[in-house]
This record gives sequence, C-alpha cells and structure tokens, in this order.
Amino acid sequence: MKCAIILAGGKGTRMKAECPKVMCEVLFEPMIYYVVKAVKEAGAEDICVITGYKHEIVEGYLKDLDATICTALQEPQLGTGHAVMQAGEFIARHRDDEILILNGDGPLMDAETINKAYDYHKNNDNSITLISAIVDDTNGIGHIKRDENGVLLRIVEHKDANDEEKKINESNAGCYWFNGADLEYALSKVTNNNAQNEYYLTDTLEILINEGKNAGAYVVENSEVILGANDRKQLNGLNTIMRKNINTKLMVGGVDIPCTDGVMIGMDVEIGANTQILPNTIIIGKTKIGDNCTIGPNTYIDNSTVGNDVILDNCKILDSTIEDGVDCGPFVKVRANSVLKKGVHIGNFVEVKNSVVGEGSKSAHLTYIGDSDVGSDVNFGCGTVTCNYDGKNKARCKIGNGAFIGCNTNLIAPVEVGDMAYIAAGSTITDNIPAKALSVARAKQVNKEGWVDVKKPYKEKK
Ligand code: UD1
Ligand code: CA
Repeated sequence: MKCAIILAGGKGTRMKAECPKVMCEVLFEPMIYYVVKAVKEAGAEDICVITGYKHEIVEGYLKDLDATICTALQEPQLGTGHAVMQAGEFIARHRDDEILILNGDGPLMDAETINKAYDYHKNNDNSITLISAIVDDTNGIGHIKRDENGVLLRIVEHKDANDEEKKINESNAGCYWFNGADLEYALSKVTNNNAQNEYYLTDTLEILINEGKNAGAYVVENSEVILGANDRKQLNGLNTIMRKNINTKLMVGGVDIPCTDGVMIGMDVEIGANTQILPNTIIIGKTKIGDNCTIGPNTYIDNSTVGNDVILDNCKILDSTIEDGVDCGPFVKVRANSVLKKGVHIGNFVEVKNSVVGEGSKSAHLTYIGDSDVGSDVNFGCGTVTCNYDGKNKARCKIGNGAFIGCNTNLIAPVEVGDMAYIAAGSTITDNIPAKALSVARAKQVNKEGWVDVKKPYKEKK
C-alpha cells in the first residue's frame, strides 16, 4: 500500500504572509492543494499532513478538501525530521508499507514523477529513495553528496555546507519514498546537531546507508517539478511555470490563445477545441467550457459550465451555467447558480443572480435580474430592475414566455408576469399580470400649459 506524509508545519517567514506558507496560492489555489492532488493521483491511500504554524487554517482547509486526510500537530516546529516524528502513530500503522514524504510547498511535483520514483524504489529494493534534480541556482538547497563513483553518501543542507559542497548542483527535492519500518528506525536516530539546531529529515539518508540499507536517488529530467517557494518572488515563478504548462497543454488540445498575457487558467479547467481565450482572462475552479467559444478579453470565470458557441466579453461568471449560443457582455456579471439557457443575450451592465433565464431571452442593457424565473423569448427593456429584497427577505419574480418588459420597469417581488404580457415603460409592478395583458403602472402624464411664464421658476437675467 502507498501512503503519504505531507509537511505543512512551517511558517514561511520570508513570505511575510498572514497564513501558513503552504496556504499561499498558485493560480488561486493554496500550494498544498496541488501536493494533495498529486499524492492522491499517485495512488496514496492514506494521507497525513503535519501542521504547525496557524494549524487551524490548514486543518480547516483540508477538512473541506478531503475529510479522509488526517493531520498531526507539530508544536514547536523544530525541523523537517521533527515534523515527521509527529506522525509516529501513522508511521507505526504503515510499517509494512511504502511511505511517501514530501514538502507541502512544492506544488509542481506531479504524480508521474512520484510514481517513477516509486518504481525505481521498488525495483532496487530501497529503504529510501529521494528525488533529486540538477539545478542552476544552488542557493538554499540540500546538496546531494556522492562519492567519486557516484554512490550516495548524504545530504548536506546549504547552511551546513562547506565551499566545496556548496558547488554541488544536484538538489534534494524534498520528496522521498521510505520503507515504513526503516523510516521509523531512522527517525529515532536523527539529532539536531547542525547549523540550524533542527532535526533534519535529510539525515535519515546517511543513517540508513550506515545501516547497510539500500538507498537511491531518482534524478528527474525536468528540474521544474522540484521547485518550491520560500518567498513571493519564487511564488510568482511557480505561477509563471504552472500557467505556461497549463496554457501549453490547452493549446495542444486545440484551444486558441493568441496572446497569453494575463491568461490564468486553473489546473482543473477543461476547454474545448476552437475556443479562443483572449488576454486578461482568468478561468478557475471546476470550470468546463465547450467548443467554438470566444472568452475574454477581461473575463473571470469560476466554477461554471459554459456550452458551445458562447461569447463572454468582459464578463464575471461565478458558479453558473451558460448554455450553447449565449452571448454576454461587455460588463456582465452572472452569479449564484444562475442558468442562461440556449441563445440568451445579455448585454452591457446587466447582472443576473440566482436566476434562470429561458431560451432566447434578451436583456441588452442596464438591468438587474435577481432571484427570478424567466421564461423563453422574454425581452427586458433597458433599466429593468427586479426588486427582490425588502430589507429583510428575498422574494422571487416569475416572468412568463414571450413577455415584454418596457424600459425602466420595477418588478416588486414576489410578482408574476403572465405569458406574452406587456409592461409599459416606467411601470412599477406590484401585482401579478395575467397572460397577454398590457400593464401600465405609472402616474398619468399632466401637461400644464404656459406654466413657465406664470411661475418664472428661473433667475431672471439683469
Ligand atoms: C528542505 C530540505 C532540503 C531540500 C528542500 C527542497 C530538510 C532539512 N531540507 O529544505 O534538503 O532541498 O527542502 O525544497 O528537510 N516544515 C515543517 N516543520 C518544520 C519545518 C518545515 O512542517 O519544522 C515543512 C514546511 O512547512 C515545508 C517543508 O517542511 O512545507 C520544507 O520546509 P523548509 O523549511 O522550506 O525546508 P527547506 O529549507 O526548503
Ligand atoms: Ca522550502
């Protein structure tokens, strides 16, 4: 059985963040999100996360993400080895299993790499297999020390390394496979006799080698996967790499991104072929977009489903469904489980909230449709407002098929407009309107002729 321990106890001082480091975001998801995802994809059946600094934030997040993940608290935080020691019960439970241990601040590590390292680990009957990479920037890394024949000796942390060791450009990824029983043994021997007075997990390598156990390093081809982030600049670097990787994968799949500037697409987003994504567009969450759409510029979509042949120009779409052939924008907001059915047109400065808008209905400008059930082929005049909130409670409006809502209409919810009813412009509708009726709900116009000459309501010129 495969299982995993994720290290997430550190504060991440250099991030200068309010949250623990692993909660700092890459493409709008905390770094630990990607680590958990990779570990699960790699087949880990039991996962333990070590928490420490502001542990309640990480615990709360994990509970929502996957309630089967257990946590172990590390307080105070005395190093990566000390962190793993807190998972004593978990390790004892998995003495006969292979345990993956990895840093929670390395979101680019993927299931493929983890599994290749696992195969290498099993094929060589290793007690410990670490993942390493050849890197350009050796600052702050754990240097992999080998003898003249390339046989692994130990890991030297940058702060403990002499000038010669600092030149070693093979870096420890912070991702290891251990045999459970051997891990348990090695941890019992780790001390804090080093430059940082910390219990280093990395010392387990030398401990196991000295015991005559098999140890190996799986060297990755693409050194990007081992990158972590200790500060905001590195976090930006991770965003750039992940963004590029996701955009490239989408383009290979037929998505047209003529200019990737400002295009940030999350890892779980699906987009169909021939859809065009224009600059400054952010698409995240569990969003699915069909074929032949034009999305953007300046569009934000979170957790929504978009059909085929849809145009979203300068829109914000949250937790909603946009069906085939819908045309939205510019400057449109659709939110809170709204559904725009086939062929709907929503134009500039229109907001739709918690509403269903039926097939072919149109709201071209300056309108608020909130808590409403709108039929098909409804025409909203400019400036229609559903008055859905009385200061205490929300209520719904129901608008029948083919209804015509004149400009500047207020619909005071709860209210129903019948099929094919017409509402005169400027009406404030408080009562239900029967099908095919015309409703006029406004003061009658009065013209007072000559009023200005009589009243002289202006300052007279001298
Ligand atoms: C660690 C490795 C280093 C490797 C590097 C790769 C050690 C001693 N060094 O160094 O060889 O090259 O990762 O990124 O392991 N954490 C805890 N509790 C603690 C300390 C850390 O949970 O007491 C967690 C952190 O939240 C983080 C992870 O462990 O997710 C790594 O800690 P960090 O301090 O960033 O280790 P590095 O110095 O980068
Ligand atoms: Ca680190």
